Amino acid sequence: MLKILQGAGQALVEPLRAVLDRGFSPALNPLNHLGALTIYFCWIVLVSGIWLFIFFKTSVSGAYESVEYLTHDQWYLGGVMRSLHRYASDAAIITLALHMIREFVYDRHRGNRWFSWVTGVPLLWLIIPLGITGYWLVWDQLAWYVALTSAELLDWLPIFSESMARNFLSSDVLSDRFFTLMAFLHLIGLPLFLVFGIWLHVLRINGPRINPPRALMAGSLLAMLALSLIYPALSQGEVDMTQVPESLGLDWYYLLVYPLLKAWSPGWVWGLLTGVSLLLCMVPWMPPQGGRSVAIVDLDNCNGCERCADDCPFGAITMLQRSDGKAYESEAVVDPSLCLSCGLCVGSCPTATPFRRHTALSPGIDMPDLTASVLRERLLEAAEKLQGDRRVIVFSCQEGPGTKKAGSKLNDSETGTVDVICAAQVPPSFIDFILSRDLADAVAVAGCAGGNCQYRFGADWTEQRIARERDPRLRKRVDTDRVALAWLEPWSKSGKPSAMVSALRESLPPADAADTLPERSAGPANRWKIPVTAVAYALFAVVVGCLSIWPRFQLIDEGQAMVSVSISHAGQRIGECRMLSQEELNKLPPNMRKLDDCPRERLPVRVLLSSDGNPLYEAVMQPSGIWNDGESSIYRRLPLAAGTQRLFIGMTDSNRNEGFDYSLEQDVELAPGQHLVVNFDGARQEFVFRQE
Ligand code: HEM
Ligand code: SF4
Ligand code: SF4
Repeated sequence: MLKILQGAGQALVEPLRAVLDRGFSPALNPLNHLGALTIYFCWIVLVSGIWLFIFFKTSVSGAYESVEYLTHDQWYLGGVMRSLHRYASDAAIITLALHMIREFVYDRHRGNRWFSWVTGVPLLWLIIPLGITGYWLVWDQLAWYVALTSAELLDWLPIFSESMARNFLSSDVLSDRFFTLMAFLHLIGLPLFLVFGIWLHVLRINGPRINPPRALMAGSLLAMLALSLIYPALSQGEVDMTQVPESLGLDWYYLLVYPLLKAWSPGWVWGLLTGVSLLLCMVPWMPPQGGRSVAIVDLDNCNGCERCADDCPFGAITMLQRSDGKAYESEAVVDPSLCLSCGLCVGSCPTATPFRRHTALSPGIDMPDLTASVLRERLLEAAEKLQGDRRVIVFSCQEGPGTKKAGSKLNDSETGTVDVICAAQVPPSFIDFILSRDLADAVAVAGCAGGNCQYRFGADWTEQRIARERDPRLRKRVDTDRVALAWLEPWSKSGKPSAMVSALRESLPPADAADTLPERSAGPANRWKIPVTAVAYALFAVVVGCLSIWPRFQLIDEGQAMVSVSISHAGQRIGECRMLSQEELNKLPPNMRKLDDCPRERLPVRVLLSSDGNPLYEAVMQPSGIWNDGESSIYRRLPLAAGTQRLFIGMTDSNRNEGFDYSLEQDVELAPGQHLVVNFDGARQEFVFRQE
């Protein structure tokens, strides 16, 4: 099932990658920098957030006003910063979602990669609440809805004895301390955890790419700036707790699950969120990845040069003090729990050279499933079958969708393929060996399409070694015009292995003209560059802008009002108090003498709300506290048709079976959108319908 999902995902992502490659070039393709882009958008959020905080007033009365000042009076800076803050947060969720999808569809979450995947899941639980607390701070109508709904969600958890949602029903209950708490969570608490989480997330990755290329940074910032100027982020009206907006512009990136609370209970929403998170955590083992043998170090051939440790993309190799008494300072040690069996270390080991005549080809580090020695044998076998003066040997990566099993399509009298785990498993000395021994006239190394290497650095290391920029370098005597590097896209015609081999063969000069090799042309200018990048940035900005406010969420239906029942009341004690006798009192220490002895536990409180005789809400709430001796807290929000209603509320706090201990029945006139709160006044021991 997961394999089908991954296949379908690749079928969707690959054409998009191919299109973006045309415009951005593989090195700048945003799909190859999604994790880094998420971090970059978080930087924009941080910088713009600092500006907003300078002017923000952390009080009930000041919050909305200060944000309005920034948006309108200081639109040229504060307004732009506010919009950037919102849109960069939204953009971070898009890149984050795509980052997850990409790692999943390319199977980069299983095996020893489970750590990055599993530590990614809590990042979702940090970044989403970070956005949600941001929406609270604006204190507009959306903020009120978010505060109320978040509190309803939190109330379901057995954390607070009192209902939190009751604090958001009237402005006289809400305190400034709430804003201080929110500001702390939004500005300090959650961001600190997020930074720690990201650090942990990339801990096992060697040289994680945490910064996107500069051109991509500039382009993304410009796109967000343009969106901020064209479509500035605005508040949605000052909070008036006596009125409920019929609909709200919801930021679907952060508030996606909130509308579910209209139809589901908070318990179901928590169930969904926990279920999805647990499922995500289990995905790396569904099914467990069949183990490939990890890299093995042969100390007899390791000279401690450290190249393998530098090149391993997953930090699986550490250089430790020499343990075999040889004159070298250190030796390579592989941690099997980190090794992904990619073979890049073999390509980097200077001892993996096929030129050895008298000793076996046994490098300092090798892959047991496809040793360097087997690679040489296969290469010699393939070369032996070749004829003509345009013979090509292709090293074909077994991970790339474009190169996997390419041999069956390519092999003929002039072409021989040798399968490798990753393009960078091929040490440059193998290419030298083929050309200097005249085993073929040209060599091609084919791997995953640019920037999308299954093992992160396979294409980069290969390019740099062949270009003689990274050790082990291709020897100078090798004519690089006879070497082709091909990062193939299975979706494009020119990206097919056969097209690449034909192009390489075409560019080869006749054997007798070896000294006058023609210069390779740089290829036609890329006419897609500007249109593709412009459309991509514009589309990205449109998607960010639209879903941050649209489609609108219908809070209540047309012509409806809203009623909130909010009661905190202690039920009666479960039994009568008993007066202690003088004898009993004498037995007690003086400081504990009390005339009566009352049972601690209280009875549950029962409530019924009805309209024109039809029950709307009925609940029995248990007392709070571990001894069941606290108040029962009742809260419920429900829509109600506007118009004149005969509302009845009754409450029982004793163990009577019929009737109510307290009740109120009254005709109320409800206008559409009006919010009526049903309270129990503890001092007067009576119900109140608050409509003001
Ligand atoms: C705030 C959110 C996140 C940020 C900023 C982030 C950032 C990053 C970065 C910078 C890398 C290194 C990329 C590289 O150098 O190749 C990475 C790798 C990875 N991330 Fe995330 N990530 C986030 C969330 C997630 C989530 C939610 C998941 C999945 C549940 C995830 C799965 C992975 C995996 C599997 C890798 C390893 C890829 C590999 O080994 O090639 N990430 N992430
Ligand atoms: S096979 Fe790959 S992951 Fe394993 S040690 Fe070598 S380079 Fe590192
Ligand atoms: S690259 Fe080879 S020789 Fe150098 S430390 Fe690694 S295993 Fe040893």
